[in-house]
Amino acid sequence: MKLVNKTALISGGGSGIGKATALCFAAEGARVMIAGRRKDPLVETVAEIHRNGGQAAYVVADYARVKQVEESVDAARSAFGTLDILVNNAGVAGFRPILEVTEEEYEYQTSINLKGLLFATKFAIPALAEQGGGSIVNISSGAGLKAVPASSVYGLTKAGVVHLTKIVALETANMNIRVNCICPGFIETPIFDTFIPKEDLAASKASFREMTPLKRMGRADEVAKAALYLVSEDAEWMTGNVITLDGGLNIA
Ligand SMILES: NC(=O)c1ccc[n+]([C@@H]2O[C@H](COP(=O)([O-])OP(=O)(O)OC[C@H]3O[C@@H](n4cnc5c(N)ncnc54)[C@H](OP(=O)(O)O)[C@@H]3O)[C@@H](O)[C@H]2O)c1
Repeated sequence: MKLVNKTALISGGGSGIGKATALCFAAEGARVMIAGRRKDPLVETVAEIHRNGGQAAYVVADYARVKQVEESVDAARSAFGTLDILVNNAGVAGFRPILEVTEEEYEYQTSINLKGLLFATKFAIPALAEQGGGSIVNISSGAGLKAVPASSVYGLTKAGVVHLTKIVALETANMNIRVNCICPGFIETPIFDTFIPKEDLAASKASFREMTPLKRMGRADEVAKAALYLVSEDAEWMTGNVITLDGGLNIA
């Protein structure tokens, strides 16, 4: 087991990539605190980890609210005593041409994808430093690297995450904190239900598979395994790096 005696805080840990990461880290011996807005998926994820013999707890927190972000970091420390790992995974998506972008959409996505992530990082750093170091993984997106039509807001937030990864990696290297980033391609998670009409979902996913050289969407557990690598000792010489995990989409 690669994460024995480590405590991890995973935002958005009740579903999709965050849930898969919580299950994976707990199976590797970590004590896992998951955060999100909806209580039910968090409760279910914690119950699943407990059934598997792992340690986990949850905190309801809206990452658009800086105070609640801070409280989630405190919750991890008070539940488990330490904090060694932060996975900044919580995120929302939305796609529309720039001429149709509204201030509400801009505020909504940036407040979670950028502000929440930045402040979670800020609040976690002293706790990680106290342990003599630690690891932060940011979940960005292929849309943060490559221009995707109608992604002016989402792509902006995810490009910001890539750049912030490098800035924070530089600023915290002297504290033995490593900061890396994963840019997933199309991963089969509930996120698509939030912005694609139900009647278009099957056709959209068929086109995602067609666009991807490996001809399938990725699985959340495949992203979790990359996150595990980044936070484990296997990657102790890696910081400020960006892993693209997309079935070859970036070279298509
Ligand atoms: N799936 C993909 O193809 C893909 C590709 C590239 C990047 N990503 C990124 O991967 C990350 C995880 O997404 P996913 O695909 O796993 O989708 P998901 O299942 O919808 O997960 C998103 C998670 O973020 C949480 N979240 C959203 N807003 C929040 C807020 N204000 N405060 C706290 N938690 C919040 C959600 O929980 P609540 O709703 O309960 O708050 C949910 O658990 C996101 O950052 C996304 O941009 C996904």
